[in-house]
Amino acid sequence: MKKAVSKELTHLAIIMDGNGRWAQKRGLPRAMGHRAGVEALRRIVELCPANRIEYLTVYAFSTENWKRPQTEVQALMALLNEFIDKELNLLNQKGVCIRVLGDTKPLAPVLRKKIDHALETTAQNKELVLSLALNYGGRRELLQAAKALAYRALQGEDPEAWQEEDLAAELFTKGIPEPDLLIRTGGDLRISNFLLWQVAYTELWCTDIFWPDFGEKELLEALAAFKGRQRRFGGV
Ligand code: IPE
Ligand code: IPE
Ligand code: MG
Repeated sequence: MKKAVSKELTHLAIIMDGNGRWAQKRGLPRAMGHRAGVEALRRIVELCPANRIEYLTVYAFSTENWKRPQTEVQALMALLNEFIDKELNLLNQKGVCIRVLGDTKPLAPVLRKKIDHALETTAQNKELVLSLALNYGGRRELLQAAKALAYRALQGEDPEAWQEEDLAAELFTKGIPEPDLLIRTGGDLRISNFLLWQVAYTELWCTDIFWPDFGEKELLEALAAFKGRQRRFGGV
């Protein structure tokens, strides 16, 4: 879903990186960095409506993050649990619609139930779509979309008739416009398997700031940089 050359920032995506290093720098356990990262997310969610951002998509846990020590994975899952417990009512009151991108099947049944409840509770909200990429990998998502199309072919559809939109409709992001801006915090300059299909023409903005330190000043800086970009989508 490409827009004409426009400076509107409808969809912001964020690779929230640097929690661990933020904590290490302070002599704290990595889990404390993740906790501070949840606070940063809360701040950024609040700033979206005023900045006319309608979709916020954040990378919370990748398909590769399972490689981390079990204690860290558990700490991240516990924080997600806590985030839903503490924030669901407020997010709902503020009109935030929560979505999850990724496969939640490997998560603990209690957590999955809580996530499903959050999705149902907020499904009709219109102020902001907050997508949490959870056990998400761009390659996994594309593989799953390819499988879905293969099944459709087995059921008699003609693959020759399919357009790019048909594949996009099999992705977790179905119905969500492509990101206009992708922010990565934490100093690295890579995509790390995030939204591989969707960021084809997304503007990139990277900062050395660790995610827990990312606030209004940094967001406004990124939005201002975006306004100065010339998006050509391959044209002249
Ligand atoms: C990002 O912070 C959060 C997740 C990946 C869950 P990191 O935990 O990757 O922090 P660094 O990159 O090690 O500092
Ligand atoms: C990307 O950060 C994933 C999330 C922010 C959830 P990583 O810390 O996992 O990425 P790499 O390993 O530095 O590429
Ligand atoms: Mg990292």
